[in-house]
Parts: sequence; structure tokens; C-alpha cells
Amino acid sequence: MRLTRRSFLATCASLPAVTAVAADAGLGALAARSGRYFGAAVSTALLTDGSAFVAPLERDCSVWVPEWQLKWGALTPAITAAADFTAMDGLVAAARTAGKRMRGHTLLWHEHLPDGIEALDGRGGWDSVVVPHIETVAGHYRDAFFEWDVVNEAIEPRDGGADLMRRTPFYRMLGPDYVAEAFRLAAEAAPSARLYLNEDHLYYDDEAQEARRVGLLALLERLVRAGVPVHGVGLQCHLDIRRRFDGRLFNRFLDEVTGLGLSVAVTELDVREHDDAAGRSLARRRQRAADEVTKVLDGLFDRSALAGVTTWGISDADSWLRKGGQGGDNQGLPYGDTFQPTPMRAALAALFTATRTRHD
Ligand code: XIL
Repeated sequence: MRLTRRSFLATCASLPAVTAVAADAGLGALAARSGRYFGAAVSTALLTDGSAFVAPLERDCSVWVPEWQLKWGALTPAITAAADFTAMDGLVAAARTAGKRMRGHTLLWHEHLPDGIEALDGRGGWDSVVVPHIETVAGHYRDAFFEWDVVNEAIEPRDGGADLMRRTPFYRMLGPDYVAEAFRLAAEAAPSARLYLNEDHLYYDDEAQEARRVGLLALLERLVRAGVPVHGVGLQCHLDIRRRFDGRLFNRFLDEVTGLGLSVAVTELDVREHDDAAGRSLARRRQRAADEVTKVLDGLFDRSALAGVTTWGISDADSWLRKGGQGGDNQGLPYGDTFQPTPMRAALAALFTATRTRHD
């Protein structure tokens, strides 16, 4: 029998020992075999007060992403203040000591902004506050990050614009061109980084997500046509088992993205499953989360354009899906509350084992 990727995955799923052995080298090492990376979002608190987090971060991750410390509002509480790089510099130093590469996340996002930004308007606001922010931050970390999420969540069809773009403070200042300008500035300040447009809600089969795919593709086409230095699309992949997935639809979208010559990366993978957990055992819930990952990511691993995968946290114990508005005891990361590897880790190991090699 010819062993296809799909039949290999099916075999692995029925033989947990196979993936367990394959994953022992660590997911990062496994990913490297096909020229990819595996990593996770980290925060200073995890490294300093949570020694239990350190082992999985060291063993499995070849890449770390700052979950909080690099956000604009985390660096700069108010537009009148100078950026304070202390915490982020500490994370960069820790990553270097541990031998990890880093993704930069993120230069422009409409959430967690410095106080005072809402009052700014027009080209004046952009030139006096946003341009210095991008130049200062990307310049400070000139060679620290191999990939940068330059703009995060630029698309929001519900905001009502014909271009389907989110009406952010940056949009208010410059209109749709703010994205191209941000990428050009980032390319100058951090010339060796691969520059990503990062976005969520692009995978499932419903009208809202279809509108987002349409909006994102239109924006990407405009950027690529104009010669803007955009190198990849970050698919956040905050997955949700309640939604309907159609592999053909998602693959068509991926064809269009990669057809533009862009890389793709899974940048914030986790699974929201607690809303549909009633009456199910913990083991079953974790398996459902793993199955969701296999289902949605399978077509991505067929593609040489896939640069790598980062999960949004490493253990359920510290997942943002358990905090604030996300609420609930989601079981959606490669390690559970007590740091035992979950079926999701095995699912990722199986995907990395059966994948095609990466080509930029
Ligand atoms: C979240 C962090 O996980 C939280 O700790 C923080 O309070 C808010 O931001 N999409 C993104 C991430 O691009 O930056 C967000 O991270 C989660 C949603």
C-alpha cells in the first residue's frame, strides 16, 4: 500500500506510541526536519514565576512570541511617554540564552494602544506618533525577530466599509494606505525580518468568515501589486469546535494567498471547546480539540509555503482562553493544566511528521 500523508496521519492517530516517539525530540526539532518552526507565546511572568512552564517551552519550542510585552500599550502607556523596553528586552535576552528565535508581535493593532491615541487624526497624527513608534520599536529590535506581525487584524467587514477594512485609529489617520506605509517603515527599520499581516476568523464556513477572506485577499492583492514588502500572512487560528469547516473552501483561500507568492504561518493556535463540553470526559474534550487542529491544519501542511506554527501559550493553565471575555476552562493547547502533554501535542507531531518540506 502506498503511504500517503493522509493515510500516515490516520495510522498515527490509531497508534499513539508512534507519535509519542516522534515527538520526543520536541516539536521544534520535528518541525525543523521540514524547514519549519514550532513555538509558543510566552510572557515574562511564565518565565519568572512559573518554572513548570519552562520545561515544555524549552523542549518543544524553537520559537517564542511575546504574548503581551511587545504590544504598543505594554511598551508605551501614553503617547506622551517614551517606550520602556525593559520587560521586552528581558524576554529577548531569555530567548537568546535559551537558544530560541523570536517572532515580533505586533507593531500596529487596534487593541491595547497608548492613552491619547484616540485624539489623533490625519497625516499629522500618523507622522508625529505612529511613524516614530514603528521606527523606534522595529529599530530597537532590528535583528531580534525573524518574523514580524506588522499589522494585526486589519480586516473587519462589520465596520461597514466597502474595502472591508477595520476602522482603526490608523485607518482614521491615513485611510487604507496605512497598511502599506507600515510595512515600508518596518522593512526599513528591520530589513532582515519577514513581514506578516496577521488575521483571525478565516477558516470556517460561514458568511462572516467568508467576508473576511474576501477582504483580506483584496488587501493582499493591492499590497502585492503595489510592490509593498509583505512576505506572509499570519493565520491566528483561534479555532472553535462549534463552527463548520469545509476543507475545499479553506484550501481555495490558501491557494489564492500562496498564489500571490506569500508565505503562511499559523501564529496563535488554540482551540475553544468549553462551550460544547457538557457531559464529556476530560479525555474526550482534549481529543476533540486535537481533532479540530488536525482537521483545520491538514491542508496547510500540504503546502511548502507554510513557514511554521506557534500556539498561543503552551499550557491550558495560562491560556488567555480562560481569562476575561474568553472565559471557560478550555482544553486547547499542547499541555494541560498540570503540564501533561495533550492529544493536541500528538496531533501536531503527526502533522509535522507527515508534512511536505518548506520552500520560501
Ligand atoms: C491577547 C493576550 O493573550 C492577552 O494576554 C492580552 O491581554 C490581550 O491580547 N489576538 C491577538 C493577540 O493577536 O495579540 C491576543 O493576545 C489574542 C487575540
